[in-house]
Amino acid sequence: MNMRDIIIAKRDKQSLTDEEIRFFVKGVTDGSIPDYQTSALLMAIVLNGMDDREMTTLTLEMAQSGSVLELPYIDGVAVDKHSTGGVGDKITPILLPLIASFGVEVVKLSGRGLGFTGGTVDKFESIEGFNVEVNTKDFQNYVTKTGMVISGQTPDLAPADKILYSLRDVTGTVDSIPLIASSIMSKKIAGGAKGIVLDVTCGSGAFMKDYAMAKELAEAMIKIGKLADRKTVAVITNMDQPLGRVCGNILEMQEVLNTVTGKGEEDVIEVVVELAYHLITIAKKDAGMSPEVLRSEIRARLSDGTCYEKYKELIKSQGGKLNDSGSPVYVDTPFDCMHVNSPDSGYVQSIRTDLIGQASVLLGAGRLAKTDKIDYGAGIGFFVKVGDKVERGDSLCALYTGANSNLPEERLFDAMDLILEAYEIGPEKPEKTPAILGVIT
Ligand code: URA
Repeated sequence: MNMRDIIIAKRDKQSLTDEEIRFFVKGVTDGSIPDYQTSALLMAIVLNGMDDREMTTLTLEMAQSGSVLELPYIDGVAVDKHSTGGVGDKITPILLPLIASFGVEVVKLSGRGLGFTGGTVDKFESIEGFNVEVNTKDFQNYVTKTGMVISGQTPDLAPADKILYSLRDVTGTVDSIPLIASSIMSKKIAGGAKGIVLDVTCGSGAFMKDYAMAKELAEAMIKIGKLADRKTVAVITNMDQPLGRVCGNILEMQEVLNTVTGKGEEDVIEVVVELAYHLITIAKKDAGMSPEVLRSEIRARLSDGTCYEKYKELIKSQGGKLNDSGSPVYVDTPFDCMHVNSPDSGYVQSIRTDLIGQASVLLGAGRLAKTDKIDYGAGIGFFVKVGDKVERGDSLCALYTGANSNLPEERLFDAMDLILEAYEIGPEKPEKTPAILGVIT
């Protein structure tokens, strides 16, 4: 078997055999296949696609290219959740303690932010003392203590995906349903999940710009899940405007605290409740409640103190500091340094969420290169969202930096320009789009 023939087969629109896919993934992992041949095959896959069997084999081979977590100590079905990324997406820190309060035990491996989307690990790191580098051997202790643990991805989790992803990034081969689906599912399977709930974001702030594309990606991942014997559900969520009221690390963790103490934004709550519902059901921790009762019980626990108590347990167990009133102590203080005002009167028609994400990165909340340092206090607060009325001169957003940041002034003005470009103001009140666009099982 050789790579040249495999590339030619895919170029000529043939299905690759399981042996050919195995040969490819093994060669990528051990470095025996040069980048130019890997890139050629990736491009052939982008152009000619893969069938369900090929996608599933690619997923399982990538999952097995490193160590696969066994989670025998998890009570019930080991579940995991994954979001395809967005702006203001603070769902995981709310979801973990919420489902833990129903007895759903979770080992959550999360990533850092790269590009304009945020990463859960960075958000938890904005709490003083919180340890996100948990040793795999210690996962069981945390799960026994609190029912949950959150950690950065270990280097040996699906290493073939890491190599392929960095090549895809520089060869124009990211946008491919089979490559995205197998990349995501391989990491979930390597993380030990037997049940997977996917938050497939859709809109200007997401990979998938429209509903048809998001549905196609969701269906591809569900097919892989079915063939790989993992119960998989996808919730398609709206990323045509930022989720909640803020983006940025400390700002989002402050919104998390508001949400677990009953003061959350409705769009955040809707997404959390829907994802929690599927995770609890798949983990078989629904205690026989009907869907309506379970959903209302999930919502109630966000405001009756149950989720808040579990949230504090999670923070304390991983070394995070809480003050006397039970609020996390953050590594910095967000400083409200500039407001962006509306140039017109009317209604907010749309918000280009990718531009908002880019503005947030310019302020220091994210990184463009892996080695960039984050300003945990940086971010954006949204005074108005789609459908809200504004008068000329009203504040659209507040821009934040960390209290001691010395951000060059021109970056602040570049961020302001992006925000002015992102907000479209028009005379008619637009229809509100729901936070949940669809559920695919
Ligand atoms: N997220 C991933 O993990 N992989 C992709 O290919 C795209 C988004």
